[in-house]
Order: sequence, then structure tokens, then C-alpha cells
Amino acid sequence: MLNRKPAILVIDDEACVRHSLKFVLRDEYKVLAAPGALEGRFYLSSQHIDIVLLDIRLRGTDGLRLLYEIKQKFPYIEIIMITAYASLKTIRKAIRYGAFDYLIKPFDKNELRTVVRNALKDAKNRLAIKNELDKIKESTLYLEHLIGNARQTIISSSRNSMTAILLNIHSRDGYTWAHAGRVTRFSALIAEKVGITEDEMQRLKCSAFLHDIGKVTVDGAILEKESTLTEHEFNMIKRHPEKGAEMIKSTPFPDLIIPSIRHHHERYDGSGYPDGLTGEEIPYTARILAVADAIDAMIYSPARQHTFTAERVERELRTHSGTQFDPELVDVVIKEKLLSFA
Ligand SMILES: [Fe+2]
Ligand SMILES: [Fe+2]
Repeated sequence: MLNRKPAILVIDDEACVRHSLKFVLRDEYKVLAAPGALEGRFYLSSQHIDIVLLDIRLRGTDGLRLLYEIKQKFPYIEIIMITAYASLKTIRKAIRYGAFDYLIKPFDKNELRTVVRNALKDAKNRLAIKNELDKIKESTLYLEHLIGNARQTIISSSRNSMTAILLNIHSRDGYTWAHAGRVTRFSALIAEKVGITEDEMQRLKCSAFLHDIGKVTVDGAILEKESTLTEHEFNMIKRHPEKGAEMIKSTPFPDLIIPSIRHHHERYDGSGYPDGLTGEEIPYTARILAVADAIDAMIYSPARQHTFTAERVERELRTHSGTQFDPELVDVVIKEKLLSFA
């Protein structure tokens, strides 16, 4: 913009007005002249234009409407309205639509030059601000990209740590790693049948995989113990949902997965832990998780001397429907014959 003459487009249906404007301005500016809206639009879309001098009363076109259209498409072009009749109402409207100033025919050459110069200064300032904003936008996008990458790195290293923790628990109880995978798959199966959003599904899978992570805080001797647990030992194990939720708080995993981890041992009738929530107080994903978790334990837990058959699991689900489990979820598991996938 600095090394070339600023470009002015005159849109006026009177040839003498176009010629006289061109005559006054051509030494300092590149002046293009259009006799109507059509030619004006052509120049605007094909050339760089800094200022438009626009006739309010163009033949066949509403000059104000054209002003509005140009400002919408090219907000950084300044527009000076030209008119033979200075109606205050029209001028006000033009200013409201974004006109920079107005000139009344016949023009005073000096006034014309001053208005054009001011408009140009304004256009330059606006362009400079726009360029600054574009630069800021670009750097913001770049920073967001860097933050996104850093976040992914942290998430994947946290995921690796969580996997290592689950494997550590598994090495002591011979169960938790495989259990986490199966509970994740089975929870997703139930969720597909009841219909949850894609976001909820992602959170459910994540919390299902990590639901027993808090067991890492339980003494290895308790996890490995094959005989019946004492009350104290059982109380230690019962703390794993809270501990797991606390662990997740310090990771970049979404906070939204914490409730299902904390509440996966709540029971529908309020007799569960850690908070004794009842019915719909228990987060929906935690209720799904509780059903999947219990089914998996009935079929695969090494703590049971005899693992249950699908028929026995179904009987247990019916028996504890409405007390331990959300009855609607039990119905879905049974009606959809999901146990055949467990
Ligand atoms: Fe658990
Ligand atoms: Fe579990």
C-alpha cells in the first residue's frame, strides 16, 4: 500500500461528476470510474480499492443499499457518499450503514481532497488494526496448536502411567487388568442399548477402564489374600473408589469421569459406598458401570470358588434389581440378552 498510489473508485451515473472527480484526484491517486452498481461491483471484486466515492442517487440502484453491501463485503474500504441533495435523514442513514463522510455536489476541490485524505488515513489505520488482529489470531492458533500437542503428550504419558498402575494391581490380584478391559467393553455394550451421547460414551469407556485404579493404594497382602477378608481389610478395599477419584483429579483426564469412578460401588437402594447415594442420585454412567462391574466379578473374579453361569448371573441380577442395580439397566441386559457377550 505504501509504494503504490492509493486506489479510489468513483461510482456515479453522471459522466461529468466522474470526470471532474477524476480530474481533481488523478495526480495523487489511481482513480477508477464506474457509471453504475454493476461496473462498481466488478472493480471491487477484481482490483484493490482503498476508497469508494459513491453517489447516493444512482440510476436504477439504491446507493444506500449498495453502500451497505460494500461495507458488508469489504469492511476495510472507506466510503464517501456524494449527493446533490443533502437530506439529513439520508445522510444519517448512510453514516449508520458505515459511510465515512459525505460530499455535496458541486464539490469544493479542497474539501474533496481533505475528505479523501482523511478517509485514506482512516482506511490505513483500520487495515493496520486488521493486520495486527490477523497476526494475533495466527499466533493464538499456533499457541493453541502447541498447547494441544503438549496436552496430548501429557495425556498419553498419563495414560501410560495409568496402564502401569493397572498392570501393577494385576500383578498382585491376577485380575484387575483383564477386568478393566472387560468392564469397559460390557459397559459400552449396555450404553449402546440405552443410548447415550458420543461424549458420554467416551467418558464412560475411560472411567470404566480406570474404575479400580484406586486399588493401587490397597495393601498388596489384602489384594493377594485368598481367604475371607476381615472387616478392617474390607474397609481398606472399600476406599478404592474415593482414592481412584482423587488420583484422576491430579491427571489431565477429564474431570467428568471422576463421578463414575467415585460412585461405581453405590447401590440403587443407598446401601453402597462411598456416599450412600440412592437411585438417580447415582450418576447414570456409574450405574451402568456398577452393573457391568458386578457381572464381570460374578463370571471372572478369582475370589469366587465357583464362577457363575450366565443363568445364575441373570438370577442374581433379577434378585438385586432395584436394590443393588438400576432396574431399567437390569431389564436392558436381560431383554437384549447381553450376558451372552460377557
Ligand atoms: Fe471397584
Ligand atoms: Fe471393578
